[in-house]
Formats: sequence, structure tokens, C-alpha cells
Amino acid sequence: MKHENKQSNEHIIDCKAQCFTPSSTYSTLPKGTMLMCVKHNAWKPVVDAVHEKGGIFFCQLFHAGRVSNYDYQPNGQPPISCTDKAIISEVHIGGSGGAEFSPPHQLSVEEISQVINDFRIAAKNAIEAGFDGVEIHGANGYLVDQFMKDQVNDRTDEYGGSLENRCRFPLEVVKAVADEIGADKVGIRLSPFADYNESGDSNPDALGLYMAQALNQYGILYCHVIEPRMITQFERIETKTSLLPMRKAFGGTFIVADGYNRDDGNEAIGNGGADLVAFGRWLLANPDLPKRFKLNAPLNKYDRSTFYTPDPVIGYTDYPFLESTYQH
Ligand SMILES: Cc1cc2nc3c(=O)[nH]c(=O)nc-3n(C[C@H](O)[C@H](O)[C@H](O)COP(=O)(O)O)c2cc1C
Repeated sequence: MKHENKQSNEHIIDCKAQCFTPSSTYSTLPKGTMLMCVKHNAWKPVVDAVHEKGGIFFCQLFHAGRVSNYDYQPNGQPPISCTDKAIISEVHIGGSGGAEFSPPHQLSVEEISQVINDFRIAAKNAIEAGFDGVEIHGANGYLVDQFMKDQVNDRTDEYGGSLENRCRFPLEVVKAVADEIGADKVGIRLSPFADYNESGDSNPDALGLYMAQALNQYGILYCHVIEPRMITQFERIETKTSLLPMRKAFGGTFIVADGYNRDDGNEAIGNGGADLVAFGRWLLANPDLPKRFKLNAPLNKYDRSTFYTPDPVIGYTDYPFLESTYQH
């Protein structure tokens, strides 16, 4: 969730989760066929509009895995995951309470290959639709993260058990996507420290470091990681744990995210903790966030009650620009 303004040399990329197969869907996102059929061209005018404004536009490839239920799945089938254990909570991290999670179907090795192929096709179609690249959603307790985390992944085959085995699926997705569209167009988002959607790990430091090192063999563009202080979404806690070991291990562009403001964002860049900082809520509420940061201007406050609300569509494109705020 970032923007780029070339004139002012501020680098921001727009990025929003896109389901890409019917099974990748969950409650607040549109049913996922937009990147798997001719309809992917429907993205073209949207992508063109972002490019006309000088933006760089990456498409986030998202698969919910078990964060879904029968109602959102094709033919009322179970959602899919690395496990057949269901999420017990009834509240989705996005805040959509009452989202009941159905017990998932545990993918076979053959089905895992098909899902990897789906990621590959979605990436190809995203590039055809004009996106500058894709970000693999490997965070927040969704499918790719489910494989990595030992509190979810209870497999005994080559996709479960050891750290190497749990990271096999995410890395195979990265390889398939990078081989298809070029590693310089591929990023990944990770949240080794978070346990959103009941997806925690007993040794997140080791997991994060292993992934940062292993990603180097594919030469992808960036690694985008959620700060350890955001174990619970949108709640910042004090912790001494840092992303520095991951930052040092990863050879590409390192992006940090979650809980940042102007000052500590500048600090992270200044002290070498990151190459880029991603902003979620402040960007949502401030369509001209780079300009406001540059001027150190006041920010619009975000309204949590409109987060993840598909109907009516409010709280996404209706926050005021700086000029209109000052016209009053
Ligand atoms: C309305 C809304 C939609 C979001 N959609 C996504 C998404 O599609 N993919 C994703 O990885 N994170 C998504 N996030 C999470 C943000 O990327 C970010 O991790 C979160 O807002 C915390 O960062 P912040 O403190 O800068 O807001 C969303 C957040 C909000 C508020």
C-alpha cells in the first residue's frame, strides 16, 4: 500500500491483495477470478490510470488458504491449506466479526503443485494487464504463511516438519513466479513474528532469517516485512526484537512495515534499518501522504470503522487532499 511520485522522487508502490483463483477467496475480497481468465484485462484501465499519474503498480497475489469458509469456495467446497485444522476464532483480523472458518482440506503434494502453477499464471496475467510487478502475499496467516508457521503446518511430508520443509512451498512459489515474469518484478511480504489468523511460529527469528537468506538464491526485487512489534494487527507493542538480522541477510531491497509514522520512518531509513518504509493506514487516510510528509503537514485521521468494508465503498478514495482541507 504505497505510491510513487516521480517528480518529487518519493517512491511509493500501490499494492492490494488480489485473489486469483476461486479457492483463494475470503469474505471482504472479490471472488478470485480476475487474474486467471480473460477478465484480467479489466485491470488495464486501472493500471494505466496509476501509470499516468507516475505511479509504480505492483499487484499483490493473495491466497486466503484456511482463512475462508464454504460460502466463499467454489461449489461450497472446503477451503484449502497445508493442514486440515480449522481456525477456531470467529473474528477475521480485518475485523469482519462472525466470519466462521470452515475446516480446510489438506492439500496433497500434487495439489500443491497446482496451486504453485496458479500463482505462476496469475503473475503472468498481472504483467499482461500492465502491472509493473507482483508481490507474493506470504504474511498475515494466509496460505503461504500457513505453510511456514509450525503452529499451523502439521504435515509429515516434504512440505512440513523442519524449517526447510515448511519454507519449501513459499520458495517454490517465489521460484515459479520469478521464472515466469523475471525476478526483478517480484517481491514478497512476510510476517514471521505475527500470529494473525492463528498463524504463529515457535521460533520466528529463525524463520525470518532462513527466509531472508533463502530468497537470495532467486534474486527477487524486494522483501517486505512486518515489524515484530505488530504481533497483533494494528496494536503496537514494545519489543527488543528487530528485523535487522533479516535486513542484513537479504541482498535485495528491504521494506519494513507496520506502525510507522513520519519520524520513525525517517529514522529507519537514516540508520540503515530499511531501504523503504511502507505505510498502510496513514496512506489510506491521506491520498497525498508523500507531500504531507515532505511539508510536515497535519494528517487526516483514519476511520477504523470503514476498514475492509466493501459495501458501501467508503473510506478508500474519499479522504480529502491537503488543498481541500485548507480551503475551509
Ligand atoms: C483497509 C486496509 C486494507 C489492507 N489491505 C491489505 C492487503 O490487501 N494486503 C496486505 O498485505 N496488507 C493489507 N493491509 C495491512 C497493511 O498493509 C499494513 O500492514 C497495516 O495497515 C499496518 O501498517 P500501518 O501501521 O502502516 O497501517 C490493509 C490494511 C488496511 C487498514
